[in-house]
Amino acid sequence: MLSKIVKSTAFLALTVCALNAADFNAKAEKDRIEAVKYFEAKFADPEKNKDKFFPYATDDELKNDYEKNLKHDDFNIGTYAYSKDAKSQYEAIKEMPPYESDIETGEALYNKKFANGKSFATCFPDPAVTNMYPYFDEKKKDVVTLTSAVNDCLRDNGEKEWDTKKGDIANLQAYLVNATTEAGKKFDIKIQSEAAKKAYEAGKEYYYTQRGYLKMSCATCHIQGAGQRVRNEKLSPLVGQITQFPVYRLKWESLGTIERRLSGCIVDQGQVAPKDESTQMKELIYFIAYISNGMAIDGPDIRK
Ligand code: HEC
Repeated sequence: MLSKIVKSTAFLALTVCALNAADFNAKAEKDRIEAVKYFEAKFADPEKNKDKFFPYATDDELKNDYEKNLKHDDFNIGTYAYSKDAKSQYEAIKEMPPYESDIETGEALYNKKFANGKSFATCFPDPAVTNMYPYFDEKKKDVVTLTSAVNDCLRDNGEKEWDTKKGDIANLQAYLVNATTEAGKKFDIKIQSEAAKKAYEAGKEYYYTQRGYLKMSCATCHIQGAGQRVRNEKLSPLVGQITQFPVYRLKWESLGTIERRLSGCIVDQGQVAPKDESTQMKELIYFIAYISNGMAIDGPDIRK
């Protein structure tokens, strides 16, 4: 009898453990599905849904410049998903992608030997893995982004770390991301522990926190505001927001990392951006990337 009780409690404990392991991403998964539903509803028919989602847009713009019936994967190209005019300009530029040579430079950097004879190929034996970044390092109890992984590789091999916004780092990332795109991989961000779940929650908190005298958050512009026009661009949606980075921006006249873009948005709100390899920045990217789970990696790309 006793052994039976012991056995059944052991069984129960095991089941509870197994349930918990599967559960760490339950809340995040709910967030992700809700976000996709929200954007699909919002962009099913902007003209018809004017009162609900676009009270300030003109009838003419809603009728003529918005795509209809957008589905999950359409959001991969950010703002270009819904604006007909911006999309045709985007497609024209993509015929002669300005980042082709950057991918080649990145490939050379990937193969170049460090002073100790190793190379990035030692740290990233398979270059087509950027769909798994950021990930949560359970030993370090910290998020590892593609950018911090590249610099970790340099530091671990006695090399000098790189600038985290442009130049070599963006070129190397362009090569890795391009390889991942060609391999047809989808974002696959995991949350497998209590600590990882906390990191996701912290990133989410950052995204929703209101800042500056206008009390705006990332969500004000990229969830509620997504699709609305700011100057000559429509705001991109949270879903699919970083699937194409690094990007070549016409404004920058060069390729830049996701950190470069995020810092821009934070500075535009009159705030000081967290350092690119800080826990805060890494958690923010972890949250955004998780919400794009299931979407294809599709970079590098171009932006205005
Ligand atoms: C005042 C509005 C505003 C706020 C607040 C804001 N952004 Fe942006 N953001 C923009 C505009 C405008 C663009 C350029 C158009 C676009 O692609 O959305 C942009 C672009 C981006 C992009 C590039 C999307 C792409 O596909 O190229 C990302 C990523 C982004 N923002 C993230 C954030 C994050 C994270 C925050 C909060 C820390 C934030 N933004 C806060 C206005 C804002």
